[in-house]
Amino acid sequence: MRVLKHLPLALLILILVAQAPKARSAPPQVAPTPPMGWNSWNYFAERVDDKGIRAAADQLVATGMKDAGYIYVNIDDTWEGKRDENGVLHTNEKFPDMKALADYVHSKGLKIGIYSGPGTKTCARYEASLGHEEQDAKMYADWGIDYLKYDLCSFRQDVMQKQAPNDKAEQMRLMIAAYDKMGKALKATGRPIVYSLCQYGWDNVWEWGPSVGANLWRTTGDIEARWQSVYDIINQQKGLALYAAPGHWNDPDMLEVGNGRLSMAENRSHFSMWAMLAAPLLAGNDLPNMKPEVKAILTNRDVIAIDQDPLGKQAHYAYSSGEVEVWVRDLQGGARAIAILNVGSDVNETHPFRLDLAKLGLHGTEHAVDLWTGKKLDLTDNMPIQLASHDILLVRIAEPK
Ligand code: GAL
Repeated sequence: MRVLKHLPLALLILILVAQAPKARSAPPQVAPTPPMGWNSWNYFAERVDDKGIRAAADQLVATGMKDAGYIYVNIDDTWEGKRDENGVLHTNEKFPDMKALADYVHSKGLKIGIYSGPGTKTCARYEASLGHEEQDAKMYADWGIDYLKYDLCSFRQDVMQKQAPNDKAEQMRLMIAAYDKMGKALKATGRPIVYSLCQYGWDNVWEWGPSVGANLWRTTGDIEARWQSVYDIINQQKGLALYAAPGHWNDPDMLEVGNGRLSMAENRSHFSMWAMLAAPLLAGNDLPNMKPEVKAILTNRDVIAIDQDPLGKQAHYAYSSGEVEVWVRDLQGGARAIAILNVGSDVNETHPFRLDLAKLGLHGTEHAVDLWTGKKLDLTDNMPIQLASHDILLVRIAEPK
């Protein structure tokens, strides 16, 4: 205290201010971590209906996926009917009563999502929202909708190409204005609704997405249930880590885990990399007929915890050697996740991959946990790591050195 007495007042105030606990900004109300749930498109596409959505909600609960964090049940394209003389959009015969469906999903402790677009038509040529943005947003809120995926589709022909045929820059401005319009309409409803942009990453959406109120934005074209598509998408995420933060996520598209011809190694790698990328985890498989080994992947709590880490920092690509890529993600409390992915079509035994800790900013033996076996694993410099084709080693280091 005697020292303090001799300090000039201004300096004293400075010291006190510096030592005061930092006022933390409140976490965003919507999507503080990447949204998790299920979406109808990847498996059911146009075959989605009221019954299928109820079954998906039931299965999320029965399989333990809800307890693992999968909360949103998202209806994708093909629910839309026609507009009446007042411009009110009605559902088609597959969805007799959207409010009742939303109530059912909510009664399970889940949330419900829906789909539209800024053009006259959706990608499957159903009715979209052009000229009816406020009206549609209000209707979604009245139904109790919690999530909107807004897909560019016919807006390209309807507006961008029509109004600015030879002016790319103006086309992009029109597109951004359309997303802004729906962002504002959703906000005006007063209901917290996750706003998901789907325009395939055009015009570096990650740079302007937050300014139109988006909580996530697709960074690429559509995913398909085959390794090359999954890997192409992983490749396109290099350099995007900076743009992810609580409330605002890069979206490399919905999960194909359990779909198509993906092997179990490929399913594991796909899921691990989406977790590393702080991606929304929207399962897209046939939940009532899910195989146990697929469920085990989708409900791996340790991997989900990487995705949902509250710091919200997306992994960045660190280096590759031969056909093995290494990605690193910073986690809350100074922990780190490392993914080592064999993207080649052979087991890498002829040219074994050797771990280079210095390239990851690490020094000395690192005590890690393998998140797919649950076993402890010490990582040492130059250690050889052998992985089957398209398989992954995903580890968490609690206290990196
Ligand atoms: C695509 C979109 C898909 C799906 C589909 C529905 O544009 O990327 O995820 O929503 O439209 O028609």
